[in-house]
Amino acid sequence: MSALPVKADVGAKLQNVLLGHQRTGLLYLPTSSLGMTMKLFVTGEGGMAMAGESSGYVGNIPQHYDRNLGPLIFTDYAADIAHRVAKLNPRRVLETAAGTGIVTRALRDALPAGASLTATDLNAPMLDIAATKFRRGEAVEFRTADAMALPFPDASFDAIVCQFGVMFFPDKDKSYREAFRVLDAGGHYVFSIWDSHRHNRIAHEVIGSFFPADPPQFHSVPFAYRFEPIKESLIDAGFASISATVLKSQKEVADFAMLARGLVYGSPIIDQVQQRGGVDAEGIVDAIARNYRDAFGDEPAMIPRQAIVLSANKPSAAHLGAFMRASTSR
Ligand SMILES: C[S@@+](CC[C@H](N)C(=O)[O-])C[C@H]1O[C@@H](n2cnc3c(N)ncnc32)[C@H](O)[C@@H]1O
Repeated sequence: MSALPVKADVGAKLQNVLLGHQRTGLLYLPTSSLGMTMKLFVTGEGGMAMAGESSGYVGNIPQHYDRNLGPLIFTDYAADIAHRVAKLNPRRVLETAAGTGIVTRALRDALPAGASLTATDLNAPMLDIAATKFRRGEAVEFRTADAMALPFPDASFDAIVCQFGVMFFPDKDKSYREAFRVLDAGGHYVFSIWDSHRHNRIAHEVIGSFFPADPPQFHSVPFAYRFEPIKESLIDAGFASISATVLKSQKEVADFAMLARGLVYGSPIIDQVQQRGGVDAEGIVDAIARNYRDAFGDEPAMIPRQAIVLSANKPSAAHLGAFMRASTSR
């Protein structure tokens, strides 16, 4: 599942990938009107993430994400969501938007050895890092997959987990329908989102200040998805017993430069910065670190984080029958 840079004969290569002859590949497509080269990552299942798009976790982004953002932003939430899922005693678990395997690792540690675990993501370079976190013999299957078109039969899983991924799915309703379809009756979908910009504003504001005429919009994706539309979409997809829990926490940061580096290079915002040009990304890293120090003091310093974890259930026939009886007897 390694990325193969392909620089020549783009037409034939693209055709190979689209015909499924090549599992994964980086294609450099010349875009004449823009006078630039666009990186297009093609995944094994035919999924595609374009560098510069909010879902384009490709190139060097996975390494920066895992090294600089992982321990500060994602690991604690991963342990939390893995324990929530393990408590449900699922036998077959699917993870979508698994990224570099931070939750996958926590899930494997929290689930009984007999429970199967399948970890998927749109971007193979993220899963390449995830795979390095497991020893030979540990039961995890990795597979590139778009969460809006899951390559699994109906009723294949007892639980689906997705940490901080749903916001990136362009057709969220479709992703909920897919989750519902591949869950068995009685199964659970447990996923998380970030709370609003109010709690996560520094990087967005600092990066935007470097491009006043055309601020990069990446952060409007992960921090702008709210509970109300999610609830409606889940109900439309057929889910019941929907709950949401706000997880407010503080994290000690030993080095704001490391956090700032992750915030600049560890997401597709780096492509949006480079596409605009004229600004040294290292200057943005320094400015973000300075702003964090101004806001929270010198290191080691505590920073606030706020997320929401949601859970929804695919009703079993017995559950639906009881619900119908209760509502008709009212
Ligand atoms: C912020 S990362 C979260 C990764 C991981 N869940 C974690 O908590 O560390 C978002 C992930 O969503 C993935 N992603 C974006 N669009 C996707 C899609 N349509 N289907 C599956 N994964 C997608 C990206 O490749 C990326 O790995």
